[in-house]
Amino acid sequence: MENFLKTSDFDREHLEALIESAMLLKSTPSNDRPLAGKSVALVFFNPSLRTRASMQVGIYELGGNAVILEPGGSSWTLEHRDGAVMDGNKTEHLAEFVRVLERYVSAIGVRTFAELKDWETERTDPILNAFEKYASVPIINLESAMHHPCQAMADMLTIRETLGPAKKKVLLTWVWHPKPLPMAVPNSFALAAAQFGHDLRIAHPVGYELDDELIAEIKAQVAANGGSVEFTDDVHAAYDGIEVVYAKSWGGKQFYGATEKDIEFRANLRKDWIVDEMKMSQTDNAIFMHCLPVRRNVIVTDAVIDSPRSVVIDEAENRLHVQKAILTELCR
Ligand code: CP
Repeated sequence: MENFLKTSDFDREHLEALIESAMLLKSTPSNDRPLAGKSVALVFFNPSLRTRASMQVGIYELGGNAVILEPGGSSWTLEHRDGAVMDGNKTEHLAEFVRVLERYVSAIGVRTFAELKDWETERTDPILNAFEKYASVPIINLESAMHHPCQAMADMLTIRETLGPAKKKVLLTWVWHPKPLPMAVPNSFALAAAQFGHDLRIAHPVGYELDDELIAEIKAQVAANGGSVEFTDDVHAAYDGIEVVYAKSWGGKQFYGATEKDIEFRANLRKDWIVDEMKMSQTDNAIFMHCLPVRRNVIVTDAVIDSPRSVVIDEAENRLHVQKAILTELCR
């Protein structure tokens, strides 16, 4: 493993091995310190609770040292574009930032969200790609414009430890949110669910379709791994027979650069698309999942997130274990 950028860079066997390794790390205390004497940089262009804390703690538990950098905050503002004339507000280029940093550290984790300004550019993950281009140490994606693979691996571990290894009927449902959000989490969840052979249903209103290339990749993974995928805009029928409900809001790609139009477009969708007890009662006793942070009584009702079928805290804990498995393989 050279980098950890998206789950589809790896085959199912490799992902299953990482899950096994994470389960072992979770269940059995170990004196193994694969990061002893090593440092890992964590570069956060955006806020975080779970990713930052679980990476920092995971690196410590593996014997290493985390160096946290916040471009534009605790470190210089960063330019990533080739050939940029840097006479604006960007102080340092990634060409120097990455090549200096890797003289100190054994791997670099990067969080860089979509800004929802330019779909055609952002869908290519330009900042993450620039890190990869300049780095000779491993790059770990801590949520980019298009992918959040560490979250998806924690999600797959959570489904497995809660419901067992057999394939499940999994619903990824769009939910209303007051402002448009990036697509990384739904993209990575759907892709990983397809790679792990689950039967996947993706529910969203018309206008919130995922990226065409990503859908093609999901379909290819479904064909390779024995699952299925279907799409619906019927939020009520979507829950029938489902064993895993995964809720996440995302913005419409046609509204990048005009997010006020997205807010207007979704104005009437709030009531129908919330996850509530009525919808959960249609499922096959489904567990409820969300990557967090979550807006209570907007995305999901208190009754659902506080119910015994909610696994959101286990899901957050599992970030720690899967990331330790990934770091161990990358940095050993
Ligand atoms: N789920 C997740 O990535 O949480 P944070 O944004 O708090 O890191």
